Amino acid sequence: MSEKLRVGVIGLGVMGADHARNLAAGVRGAELAAISEAIPERAKAMGEELGVPHVFTSGPEMISSGEVDAVIIATPDETHADLVRAALEADLAILCEKPLAPTAEEARELVTLAEAKDKQLMSMGFMRRFDLGYRALRARIDQGVDGALLMTHSVHRNVSAYPGQDSSATITNSAVHEFDIIPWLVGSRITKVQWTAGRATSLLDTRHDPQFVLMHDENGALHTVQVQVHAQYGYDVRCEVVSERGSAELAAVPALVEESPVVVSRDLTRSAPYPADWRPRFADAYRRELQAWVTAALAGTSPDDAASPRDALQAALIAKAVVDSMNSDSAIVEVESVDEWMAAK
Ligand SMILES: NC(=O)c1ccc[n+]([C@@H]2O[C@H](COP(=O)([O-])OP(=O)(O)OC[C@H]3O[C@@H](n4cnc5c(N)ncnc54)[C@H](O)[C@@H]3O)[C@@H](O)[C@H]2O)c1
Repeated sequence: MSEKLRVGVIGLGVMGADHARNLAAGVRGAELAAISEAIPERAKAMGEELGVPHVFTSGPEMISSGEVDAVIIATPDETHADLVRAALEADLAILCEKPLAPTAEEARELVTLAEAKDKQLMSMGFMRRFDLGYRALRARIDQGVDGALLMTHSVHRNVSAYPGQDSSATITNSAVHEFDIIPWLVGSRITKVQWTAGRATSLLDTRHDPQFVLMHDENGALHTVQVQVHAQYGYDVRCEVVSERGSAELAAVPALVEESPVVVSRDLTRSAPYPADWRPRFADAYRRELQAWVTAALAGTSPDDAASPRDALQAALIAKAVVDSMNSDSAIVEVESVDEWMAAK
């Protein structure tokens, strides 16, 4: 490996372009060595904008080119599995955007492949684990400052739904972030889930919105998750942790947005803009995630804080149980553990 980690980004849409720009702007120990994008004009434009030495239109071609030590996979969900297989085969360090694969069955095969390597090569892009707010909540729970944890309440709202997706995508694509962060936050496995929904917005006819999920962990704490992917007013993520002697919650979102770090009071009104999507809200978390991944990859491993393929499978199993509940009249559904799932081939 050269002195710097030579990173290649595969897929230059919303997420990949951001990762590529972050790398080009400077991540300690890394250089943006290559990009790969299926749309040639997009690849060319980004290559010129960022001065990237090697530009490919095929992910596998980049992986086998010898020009990269590490890859970020930021292509659509259904393409992750093939690219992960190829990158593991080439012994490259991998940061794969969530989810690992669209189904828990495919994710099982990838966990087996990743864990068969003698080095821990792969991290998953569940960036909330690097958000300072979630980290502070987790530290507070760990220290037991407010007594035993009783409940958490999470809210996840997007401005407008991705077109062409159905109700289950709200769970497998959006709520999956909650299914990763909540067990990580509270240090306990989710054992049972129940999906429900009430009146739906009239502004969306492709899927039911909003949706509500109730989860129980193995310590008996209750976790509520409300997801609304067509909320119109802004990108809004909230989390409150309720314990025996107090409650703690993420600081108000607008104060954390890079582009609008001020709250204005005027004309008897206190106001601040909301971000239009997740990128400004989690900009700092994405950069921390990237830096931690590069530092660990240079040392031949993955960051302890990052989600592993096994963690991603756990989130996929929770999502699977929630979709089963959705499809069975809001039944309470047990979540299989990763160990059970891996053993039950
Ligand atoms: N961590 C997060 O907060 C977060 C947020 C949004 C999306 N995501 C995930 O990131 C991934 C990308 O999402 P997005 O919103 O950027 O998608 P997008 O559609 O904006 O971009 C995907 C890009 O990949 C390109 N592409 C498709 N197949 C390719 C291939 N085989 N090789 C090279 N390029 C290919 C497409 O042309 C497109 O430019 C998805 O898996 C999504 O679930 C994560």
